[in-house]
Amino acid sequence: MQVTSTVKETRNFIRKWKQEGKTIGLVPTMGFLHEGHASLIRKCREENDIVVVSDFVNPTQFGPNEDLEAYPRDFARDSALCESLGTDLIFHPEPEEMYHDPHAYVSIDTLSETLCGKTRPIHFKGVCTVVSKLFHIVTPDRAYFGEKDAQQLAIIRKMTEDLNFDIQIVGCPIVREEDGLAKSSRNTYLSKEERKAALCLSRAVRAGQEAIFADCESEAVLGKMRAVIEAEPLARIDYISVVDALTMQPVEQVKDNVLVAMAVYIGKTRLIDNFSFTV
Ligand code: PAF
Repeated sequence: MQVTSTVKETRNFIRKWKQEGKTIGLVPTMGFLHEGHASLIRKCREENDIVVVSDFVNPTQFGPNEDLEAYPRDFARDSALCESLGTDLIFHPEPEEMYHDPHAYVSIDTLSETLCGKTRPIHFKGVCTVVSKLFHIVTPDRAYFGEKDAQQLAIIRKMTEDLNFDIQIVGCPIVREEDGLAKSSRNTYLSKEERKAALCLSRAVRAGQEAIFADCESEAVLGKMRAVIEAEPLARIDYISVVDALTMQPVEQVKDNVLVAMAVYIGKTRLIDNFSFTV
């Protein structure tokens, strides 16, 4: 497995692989890899000749009061996991390699204004910028993203189409702990008590999935989900919403192709979860 930290070295490997006619898959990550990332890497391994994982805590997607400094990092563990999953190259740059101030940004306004974009106004601009840069550096045939970050996935699909990247975007299902909590690098912030409380998110998902079959008014479904979360004293809802899965705009009726998404603070940790509904 190759480990690179510069754009130039990475491009040299990519050029060689492309000359050999190999297909390339990219799994963009911020490191501190868990089973959710492993599922993306496995799928990428199945579908491509070459697997590239990027491991970069991207500063431009964190707001001024967010957890950039505290974000967990463990590159030794990440590279061991990547190697065991048959990764060919990990790109692990320093922020100075990726950004020279002032630099250009890429953004998609409308899809970024609802849900997570309301609480994290610069987040998706940072995500679009770094993902475009990775797309230009790695020029993959396919790129893999988790459905836990459903809004991110919708935005990246739209950006890929709008900017004519010739890349297939592959979404992969949410991976959960045995008790239902969606896997996330941020779960490490939770105390024992908070870890228990965090189960209210997946319980709310189940309540929402059941409620949809009884009533297709969004408010009725959200009411059932809110009740589950509000019963948990350590939880505070940031948002919970039913949106059109393509436009990310709220809808009043649960109809074909909607996303039911939420962000909930458990103590100081902000967690997200969601489910999609297609008739
Ligand atoms: O989902 C993530 O981990 C990040 O937002 C991504 C796509 C790697 C961009 O930094």
